[in-house]
Amino acid sequence: MPRLLLVSNRLPVTVKVEKDSVAVVRSAGGLATGLRRPHERSGGQWIGWPGDMSRLSESQRTRVEEQFAEQRYVPIHLTASEVSRYYEGYSNRVLWPLCHYMLDRIPRQDRDWEVYRKVNERFADLTAKQYQPGDTIWVHDYQLMLVPGMLRERLPEARIGYFHHIPFPSSEIFRTLPRREALLKGLLGADLIGFHTVSYVRHFSGSLLRQLSLDTDVDSIMWQGRQVRVGAFPMGIDSDSFDSLAKEVSVLEEVASLRRTAEGQRILLGIDRLDYTKGIPRRLLAVQRLLEREPAWRGRLRFIQVAVPSRTQVEAYATYREQVNELVGRINGQYGSVQNVPVHYLYRSFNEKQLAGLYRAADVMLVTPVRDGMNLVAKEFCASRPDEDGVLVLSELAGAADELNKALTVNPYDVESTADAIEQALEMGEHERRERMRALRAQVKAHDVHWWVSHFLGRLQGLPSVSVRDVKG
Ligand code: F6P
Repeated sequence: MPRLLLVSNRLPVTVKVEKDSVAVVRSAGGLATGLRRPHERSGGQWIGWPGDMSRLSESQRTRVEEQFAEQRYVPIHLTASEVSRYYEGYSNRVLWPLCHYMLDRIPRQDRDWEVYRKVNERFADLTAKQYQPGDTIWVHDYQLMLVPGMLRERLPEARIGYFHHIPFPSSEIFRTLPRREALLKGLLGADLIGFHTVSYVRHFSGSLLRQLSLDTDVDSIMWQGRQVRVGAFPMGIDSDSFDSLAKEVSVLEEVASLRRTAEGQRILLGIDRLDYTKGIPRRLLAVQRLLEREPAWRGRLRFIQVAVPSRTQVEAYATYREQVNELVGRINGQYGSVQNVPVHYLYRSFNEKQLAGLYRAADVMLVTPVRDGMNLVAKEFCASRPDEDGVLVLSELAGAADELNKALTVNPYDVESTADAIEQALEMGEHERRERMRALRAQVKAHDVHWWVSHFLGRLQGLPSVSVRDVKG
């Protein structure tokens, strides 16, 4: 197996400081889980940001750096200004809303581009320094869209892949971005560019045609004398791990206790990062609408909404949090009683075991983002249901809807129809629930995160290698 150089904004670990002790803890996310094994097996390096280490003492820092070296993690330390302008600024105030079709959220001034470019250059420099001939480089996500092009300048012969974890928007949206050409050219430095869905591939090809007059021939583009391939590689989750967690005795005890507290009630569940793309207000309105029009459900529904704090330094997230707080208060004020409130809103993180318990206890899972690249929560829910029960209500604007076609799909902008779908899910008979869940689980299991990694890397590593002569010629 060739050595793998993984490049992502964050390293797959978090540095946790508690009083005098410091620990390097593995992150639980899909990318971290899926790529851990290939990283270990290939003996390569993982380049990324370890988060803020400025509060560590000299000796703590040395200990952490030693652990990084042992696990072959190469940290890129960002200054406070880089975090604010590259990560919060250009990545999360410009590219994030753009790719999620929310042009109104983009600041009028394009102030952070230069810092985004410079930090991308730092990632490219460090990666090129680690590179050995024969290595495969895999760059991840929108924070690093310029890195493939920068690497191609430094390493003309390298095998480079890029995966875009969020939607790639229609060319009509992408064309509004002042830096559209530089970003497209940045991606074209890769040999293989992957997206979650066929629509995102089409949107990307549309932008290449419109902005750079480049024609895509099925799945390949000629760019500067090289063939660049594009393709859809829908990302999966570690489905076996959720499946076994959901069978653990301690988890089942938690499930039983949760069900006891909700006796006589049906459990609706939402689990999201607190992000304005996740559609939490409209979802709350759909639950409210159901209670308004069907008094029989009042007192009989418990909607547990977990909102995991995210990007708290970006104003749009703070405003969104206020909006959600306000709505939850309004609905509970209107439909709650002395014994009971309809919405149980939890603003905090949960570990995977706790999540598996919540998934397993739910009657209906609500995944209704107004736009989402894939949405792994929908897949985690299915994997956590070895009892083959529970109904998934899924937004048609999430990438996952392409694969999970046995879910009840909804247009999240249509509050009334979302309320209809919730009601349909609540009233669905056991036979239909099981039939749907069996099909959903089979899909999630067959296309898990390990399948995703080998599918992408298999394609990338199977491409004919490029010689310097080919590149120049
Ligand atoms: O979905 C895109 C993504 O960047 C994921 O890779 C990541 O887990 C999530 O958003 C949270 O992002 P951040 O690193 O900004 O906390």
